[in-house]
Amino acid sequence: MNLWATKSVTALRAEAEATHERSLKRALGAMNLTMLGIGAIIGAGIFVLTGLAAALHAGPAVPLSFVVAAIACGLAGLCYAEMASTVPVAGSAYTYSYATMGEFAAWIIGWDLILEYAMGAATVGVGWSGYFVSLLDYFGLHLPTAVTSAPLRWCSSADVANAVATCIEPGWNRTGSLFNLPAVLIVLIATAILVVGIRESAKVNNWIVILKISVVLLFILFGLQYVNPDNWKPFIPPNTGAFGEFGWSGVFRGAGLIFFAYIGFDAVSTAAQEAKNPQRDMPIGILGSLGICTILYVLVSLTLTGLVRYDELNVAHPVAYAVERVSQLSWLRPLITLGAVLGLGSVVLVMLLGQSRVFYSMSRDGLIGPWAGKVHPRFRTPYLSTIYVGIIVAVITGTFPIQILGELVNIGTLLAFVLVCIGVWILRRKRPDLDRPFRTPLVPLVPILGVLACLGLMATLPGDTWLRLIVWLIIGFLIYFTYSRKHSVLQRELDGQSLRKSA
Ligand code: ALA
Repeated sequence: MNLWATKSVTALRAEAEATHERSLKRALGAMNLTMLGIGAIIGAGIFVLTGLAAALHAGPAVPLSFVVAAIACGLAGLCYAEMASTVPVAGSAYTYSYATMGEFAAWIIGWDLILEYAMGAATVGVGWSGYFVSLLDYFGLHLPTAVTSAPLRWCSSADVANAVATCIEPGWNRTGSLFNLPAVLIVLIATAILVVGIRESAKVNNWIVILKISVVLLFILFGLQYVNPDNWKPFIPPNTGAFGEFGWSGVFRGAGLIFFAYIGFDAVSTAAQEAKNPQRDMPIGILGSLGICTILYVLVSLTLTGLVRYDELNVAHPVAYAVERVSQLSWLRPLITLGAVLGLGSVVLVMLLGQSRVFYSMSRDGLIGPWAGKVHPRFRTPYLSTIYVGIIVAVITGTFPIQILGELVNIGTLLAFVLVCIGVWILRRKRPDLDRPFRTPLVPLVPILGVLACLGLMATLPGDTWLRLIVWLIIGFLIYFTYSRKHSVLQRELDGQSLRKSA
């Protein structure tokens, strides 16, 4: 039994050939790839978490948090571009690590990616709910808060000491709500769409992206005219004495939270086989979408904190809230809310899709049960894994608050980025001969800086989040050692080979 057994890159390429994954049409140019990236990137991060990051951590300096997070993503993005063009098969970071660091690392990544995709869908589901409720409010339909917010809230000792509402004791507290019904609904709707295989066509995706970008641009263009510069003073509010509550540590802690807003650029890497000219277009798609979103994010957060004082922004729909507070901008509210509802809905769909793809790859490798690899005879979709994932995500999104979910997604995704950066370096040393349509510049400097930047962002996240990651990984180890390694297709092949040799 070899924990570090790797799949050969040649075998992976052949596997992709056999399943016709490489026969996908090379139809995407730099423009389409960039649109794809923006479609997956812009979501709850900018529309919801910006408000939290400003109100709780960075104050008006939240644009600096966006720049810090963008640097870490840019470094990891360069590594993703090389991996995606060298090992262009489904499964993303999971498959890359199977080829570079071996089965156990691949398992950790696959298990960890559940945090990115399934928990990510749950997080965006909560964000969607906030804007959906705001849209209903606009039309005079008011849902009771008992069915539009999380029944649980995580309180720190400081929250209890400061008598924050519903915080009775440190740890989980009940809020009095039943569950977040709209969040559950959007997850179930997205699941149903994925099961019957109605994938959003490139055209629909492009329209949603255009709508999202237009809404964001309208907010910036009109919003900037009404900012009150006094709201930006002091730009970096003094630290309260606790790490991450304003001051520079707040800027970095804000970056750790706001990192969520950039998640999704790695989705571009999964389209490597469909790029017309991956060498040129992958870095343009990944870094282009990152660059455009960074500029938009910096401008949106500057506008937001200029329109409303940062301490008012701890609300479920901060961008809509800000335009509502300035009477000359209130005409923007329905547009912003509609853009957010459609835009966040599509991110939920893409995240759930990503989760079922990773499970599908893991199941084919024997690391999880055959159910996840079952394809519906008529719809040709991995329907069982989609349904199971959908139900579990619906329960989570209906129960937990957005910040806790978002931080868990971030720590999981950052860990995946760290492993992809290390993987690029390892593969360069192990297989220098491989044909690499795109090469990360300055290896090993860029991967090392990528690892350090991602670890740095992870370090800003609270101890509770680390604890949750550790518990999650321990559960993963238990499953690996009790089930996965016994059912691994690769291990069986290796055992078969050694039996043949000894016979
Ligand atoms: N970046 C995506 C969002 O902000 C996940 O919703």
